[in-house]
Amino acid sequence: MYRSHNCGELNASHINTEVTLAGWVQKSRDKGFMNWVDLRDRYGITQLIFDESRSEKSVFEKAKTLGREFVIQVKGTVIEREAKNKNIPTGEIEILVTELTVLNQAITPPFTIEDETDGGEDIRMKYRYLDIRRNPVKNSLLFRHKVAMEVRKYLSDLDFCEVETPYLIKSTPEGARDFVVPSRMNEGQFYALPQSPQTFKQLLMVGGMDKYFQIVKCFRDEDLRADRQPEFTQIDCEMAFVEQEDILNIFEGLTRHLLLEIKGIEVDKFPRITYDYAMKTYGNDKPDIRFDMKFGELNEVAQHKEFPVFNAAELVVGIAAPGCASYTRKEIDALIDWVKRPQVGASGMVYVKCEANGTYKSSVDKFYDQEDLANWAKATDAKEGDMIFVLSGPANKTRAALSALRMELATRLGLRNPAVFAPLWVVDFPLLEFDEESGRYHAMHHPFTSPKPEDMALLETDPGKVRANAYDMVLNGNEIGGGSIRIHDKATQALMFKYLGFTEEEAKAQFGFLMDAFQYGAPPHGGLAFGLDRLVAILGGQETIRDFIAFPKNNSGRDVMIDAPSMIDEKQLNELHIQLK
Ligand code: AMO
Repeated sequence: MYRSHNCGELNASHINTEVTLAGWVQKSRDKGFMNWVDLRDRYGITQLIFDESRSEKSVFEKAKTLGREFVIQVKGTVIEREAKNKNIPTGEIEILVTELTVLNQAITPPFTIEDETDGGEDIRMKYRYLDIRRNPVKNSLLFRHKVAMEVRKYLSDLDFCEVETPYLIKSTPEGARDFVVPSRMNEGQFYALPQSPQTFKQLLMVGGMDKYFQIVKCFRDEDLRADRQPEFTQIDCEMAFVEQEDILNIFEGLTRHLLLEIKGIEVDKFPRITYDYAMKTYGNDKPDIRFDMKFGELNEVAQHKEFPVFNAAELVVGIAAPGCASYTRKEIDALIDWVKRPQVGASGMVYVKCEANGTYKSSVDKFYDQEDLANWAKATDAKEGDMIFVLSGPANKTRAALSALRMELATRLGLRNPAVFAPLWVVDFPLLEFDEESGRYHAMHHPFTSPKPEDMALLETDPGKVRANAYDMVLNGNEIGGGSIRIHDKATQALMFKYLGFTEEEAKAQFGFLMDAFQYGAPPHGGLAFGLDRLVAILGGQETIRDFIAFPKNNSGRDVMIDAPSMIDEKQLNELHIQLK
């Protein structure tokens, strides 16, 4: 038996018990006649004591040779500690060691295994197994496990069945590039790793599985950001014989359950807003609604005066930043520079101070009187003490820039409190979006999404206006999930491929299997997928998913620990029929 207890569970009730512990040496303090060692495992830290007068000489001497991160096993007696540590559960006791076995030695780790480590991001990624010994990383993994368990429990109780789908598949078009795997047995042919199990889960519905879920790895070769990894995990779900309303209710239930079980937070029914409303009101289809700062469109009250910039603009739009009327000239100028950065792209910014005495002071006083500015305040819901920031220009670009400013202001004003959770649904996404580069429409969600029946006629006349039965779940300004009601008949699916610019042959070659299946009695179905990494990170109060993944990739898509991707040898290349240039 390596251990009778773990390093986090012994307390005053165990005094005089003989125990065996195993773990890593966190640190040791050698006071000459007395030597204390902090022994660490996944569960906590227990203090060991080696005492010249009470320990056997050989044990006492051996303790002096222990280095940081040595793996040891000790036997001893639980005794009361003289100097108690109220901050840890084991702080009232220590172990008077009678036997010490060094199970393995360790060389000095490249960074300190402490909550606040001296190791930078790169070195911690390279030695991720050491990073995982630290509480913040270890706790994130335990937290992820807890969330995944709750998901499995909740869905299983509702009769969802977890089914595994293959990883070596044919490309599914979700909008990103595929990772591909060459086939040795089929010269010149490639598998693709799934961007999601989308087509398989639909085939499971044709197979009568009815309620499916899977916690599943997905692979997308896209540019990385804080909330994106090339391989990430979805909670992928699909149901047959459902309408959009059923899906929204079930998965709202799941999210509410997680918030309650994991965070102890009860939330009301999730608000639902349309995509159009989201874009007009927040400039964004994943709005953070923990705070207000809704957009006020000002065309009517700001145009047709003498200010040429606004008169020439397609959209004039502002937000009221709460309590910011006190901003100094310097602070305002810094914000103007911020919105002018290429990443935000505004050409300039107008501001209006809503003074405490009910008057207004603006950067465009030359063109607008107090009554005009009062109208702006009304449109942006500005109160005394607020500052209105106004941008103008082409509608989409201006909304995007103001949305970025809204988030930046909220961050600066401390309104993005990670302990507050504000989920919502965004519904009625457009079915198609026009892609300037290719000069044609693309599926906004994916090509299996069903148009709203009442908008079908618009497909011929005004495709950009067709709305889909598609929805996203948004939490604190992040898209944590998305899905749709699917097309389930061959004719509509064929029509959709046609509108997406596929020839009949191309559609058959890529998706013949799905359209064939639809001919054998496909039930109406729909579903969604959550991004598990994102969900866990946000529940954990963070937005960087990397911290919640055991072995993540860095920003260049590399695993710096195992050094992947890497070259493969000539023999392997030959077997795969691949010639490098
Ligand atoms: P979608 O592409 O919206 O839908 O993906 C679902 C959710 O997965 C998460 N996500 C990611 N997380 C981390 N890194 C990434 N690179 C990444 N890409 C996506 C997001 C997103 O909301 N098959 C459909 C679902 C369906 O229609 O049922 C799909 O994959 O949180």
